[in-house]
Amino acid sequence: MDTRAMFSLSYGVFIAGVEEGGRKNACIINTAVQATSNPLIMHVTMLKSNLTTQMIRKKGSLALSVLSLDCPLSVIGDFGLRSGRDHDKFDGVSCSLDGNGNPYFEQNTAARMSMNVSTMIDLGSHCLFIGEVTEAERTGDGKPMTYADYRTLKSGGTVAAGETKPPQKRWVCSVCHYVYDGEIPFEELPEDWKCPVCNQPKSVFVLEG
Ligand SMILES: Cc1cc2nc3c(=O)[nH]c(=O)nc-3n(C[C@H](O)[C@H](O)[C@H](O)COP(=O)(O)O)c2cc1C
Repeated sequence: MDTRAMFSLSYGVFIAGVEEGGRKNACIINTAVQATSNPLIMHVTMLKSNLTTQMIRKKGSLALSVLSLDCPLSVIGDFGLRSGRDHDKFDGVSCSLDGNGNPYFEQNTAARMSMNVSTMIDLGSHCLFIGEVTEAERTGDGKPMTYADYRTLKSGGTVAAGETKPPQKRWVCSVCHYVYDGEIPFEELPEDWKCPVCNQPKSVFVLEG
C-alpha cells in the first residue's frame, strides 16, 4: 500500500473553538467534513490529548471557523502548534461567541458554523465527533484555505487568492447537489417538477449564493 496516496485528499483548515467551565480554548484542525445535507451533519476528527478535544467531550458542542487564504501563518501557529494547557490562546484575541457560548472568528475567515455533538466514536488516538450543524454563516469573501495551501505557504511558497467574485445565486438539489440550469426560472417550475438526477421533489432544492 502506498500511503502517499493519502496526500491527494483535499482538506480545509479550520479553528475548532469551545468554551467550557468558564474558559475558552481552540485549536487548528483540518478534518471538518460535511457528512449529509439533510439533516445537515458534519464531523471532525480530534486528537484525544488536545485540550480542545477534552473540553468538547465535556461540553458536547463546538464552533468552527473556516480560515481564508489571508489568514496569517502566525494564527495557525498560535492555535495549532501550542496547547491551551500552557497558555491562554484567547489572551488579547478578539472573537465572537455562538449560541452555545463557543468562540469563533470573523477576521481571516470565510465562514463559521456551530455543531452540537450527537455521537462520539473512539478511534484510539482520536475521537470522531459527529453532530448536527445548528448555526452557519458566511463571514468573508476570501477564498477558503486548503491544507495544501497551508503546506505551500509554510514552506515559503505563494498561493494566488484569485479574483473573488460574489457568488451567483443558484438552486441546488440538497440530496444529489445537481445545480438547476434550465431556461425557465426555478421559481416558475410546476410544483410537481422533480430533480432530473435523483427524482426528488422541487421542495428539496435550496438557494445558494
Ligand atoms: C495544519 C494543522 C492541522 C491540524 N489538524 C488537526 C486535526 O484535524 N485534529 C486535531 O486534533 N489536531 C489537529 N492539529 C493539531 C492541533 O491544532 C494541536 O495539537 C494544538 O496544539 C492543540 O491545542 P490544544 O491542546 O489547546 O487543544 C492540527 C495542527 C495544524 C497546524
